[in-house]
Amino acid sequence: MLDNKISEIKNSFTADIKSVSSSKDIEDIRIKYFSRNGLIAQLFEKLKDASKEDKPELGKKLNLLRNDLTLQFDTVKDKIILSDTSKENIIDLTLPGNEFVIGSKHLLTQTLDEIKSIFKGLGFSVAGGPELESDYYNFESLNFPADHPARDMQDTFFISKDFLLRTHTTPVQIRLMEKQAPPVRAIMPGRVYRNEAVSARSYCMFHQVDGIYVDTDVTFAELKGTLISFAKQFYGANLKYRFRPSFFPFTEPSAEMDITCYLCHGKGCKICKNTGWLEILGCGMVDPNVFKYVNYDSEKYTGYAFGMGIERIALLKYGLTDIRIFFDNDLRFLKQF
Ligand code: DAH
Repeated sequence: MLDNKISEIKNSFTADIKSVSSSKDIEDIRIKYFSRNGLIAQLFEKLKDASKEDKPELGKKLNLLRNDLTLQFDTVKDKIILSDTSKENIIDLTLPGNEFVIGSKHLLTQTLDEIKSIFKGLGFSVAGGPELESDYYNFESLNFPADHPARDMQDTFFISKDFLLRTHTTPVQIRLMEKQAPPVRAIMPGRVYRNEAVSARSYCMFHQVDGIYVDTDVTFAELKGTLISFAKQFYGANLKYRFRPSFFPFTEPSAEMDITCYLCHGKGCKICKNTGWLEILGCGMVDPNVFKYVNYDSEKYTGYAFGMGIERIALLKYGLTDIRIFFDNDLRFLKQF
């Protein structure tokens, strides 16, 4: 009886497997023969009713049948999967690949890179110092006397009585001169902090580059020559500029450098407050009092120094009007540079 059944299943399986042409056919055969209630499982079920003597022999035959059909099934299944061109399995080699998005340097980094490369060309090296600074380096050694109104020029974030977030990169000049005897010629870029209300014109955190050159016989004319060369390389050879007297505790005499307004080209407008000029940096001859703090002989050495805000000079170069744009991380802005 079971013998008949076995050959019946064999025959029908042979016929079914021959006519397979898709993954769906394969799945149908799997269900029909190999599933939990499939034809093979049903035969094994019948084994229970066989007599004790017949059981071993029949069991063997059923196992053989199952192994034989499984082998055939797997072979055909592999072939079908490999040749299946239905939608899920197709690999379309003509499809364009995924685009790699390549980032770019932030405009501030680009600006700083440009400043560094110009000053390197003028013989300056690059130095750095800490953002958490002491009152001594940020003020005292730069000739800001205690309780002197000059300290009010810079609204400071104090950490404690003696420590603060540096309000300018000028303290790095002191740190450098303490370590090194003249000649010293370096720029000092970095982040600075001021306790100011955030607006289009000011931010509580921004970036500066200071510079200093100390040697025997350094003159104000050299200071002007260096800064004019920098400004022309940065803004273009046709740039118009002027130097105006100013005051900083650490330089004497002190000056500020202006360039013609990028918007009105000197005619006077809202941006330049009708003056036609925009200030780009502060500078001056290093005050002999500062040299005292670093044990430089002010009879022997003279020096010049300067400092500029990186955001500010970038705003002026690209005709932007709001400093906050540098820190918004707005891709519509960043992608343009
Ligand atoms: N530290 C000044 C500021 O933050 C800028 C400055 C002016 C730096 C003159 C200098 C300098 O080195 O000589 O406003």
